[in-house]
Amino acid sequence: MKTISSIAFIAVLLILGCIGKQPDNNLIDIPEKSHDYSKGKEIIAATFSSLSSELQKSMHDGGVENAIKYCNLKALPITDSLSQIYNADIKRTSEKWRNELNKPTFDEQEIIDFYKSQLIAGNELNAMVQKVNGQNIFYAPIQIQELCLKCHGETSKMPYYGIIKNLYPKDQAIGFELNELRGIWSVRFN
Ligand code: HEC
Repeated sequence: MKTISSIAFIAVLLILGCIGKQPDNNLIDIPEKSHDYSKGKEIIAATFSSLSSELQKSMHDGGVENAIKYCNLKALPITDSLSQIYNADIKRTSEKWRNELNKPTFDEQEIIDFYKSQLIAGNELNAMVQKVNGQNIFYAPIQIQELCLKCHGETSKMPYYGIIKNLYPKDQAIGFELNELRGIWSVRFN
């Protein structure tokens, strides 16, 4: 029964033409070989490696509780300082956000919806550059890996969830499953 309703759901999406379509109207696709595409890739690789090496170090030193405090204090300052180095606005955003400052803009939400439809269709999620209101923006998907579930998975498996909830009373970034779309990178070139 579940399979039949999922098939019906995918069929409806196909009929509506949501799948395989690039995000909408005021977004213009820039080719993968462009300078901003490779620059974007380089920037998110550097930011990811900076965030994740610090995260793993703080987890190793003081467990998940310590790592939560680390993310709370350091995630935005790290992305901000890399933004200055690269002369670009580096942002991680999600429709199920933890920190309200990371809420998606209208255009970012369109990209999130696009990636979600791609996942449902079983397609690979690729990075892209779009021209939005005359400015090039690099987008890339962020998917859930095993480690992420420690702080973004089921709350019943997080005895320390109270610490997160205290820091982020409006937290929505829970209940994710492996491989699910956690959010996107959005890199705006200055
Ligand atoms: C130790 C706990 C912890 C782990 C593990 C963790 N996160 Fe987070 N995550 C946080 C916290 C806390 C924030 C809020 C940071 C802030 O205040 O900017 C956050 C924020 C984010 C955001 C920014 C959007 C938002 O919701 O505010 C993304 C995207 C994200 N995490 C993805 C991941 C991914 C992907 C992984 C695995 C590779 C991961 N996280 C692992 C605790 C964690």
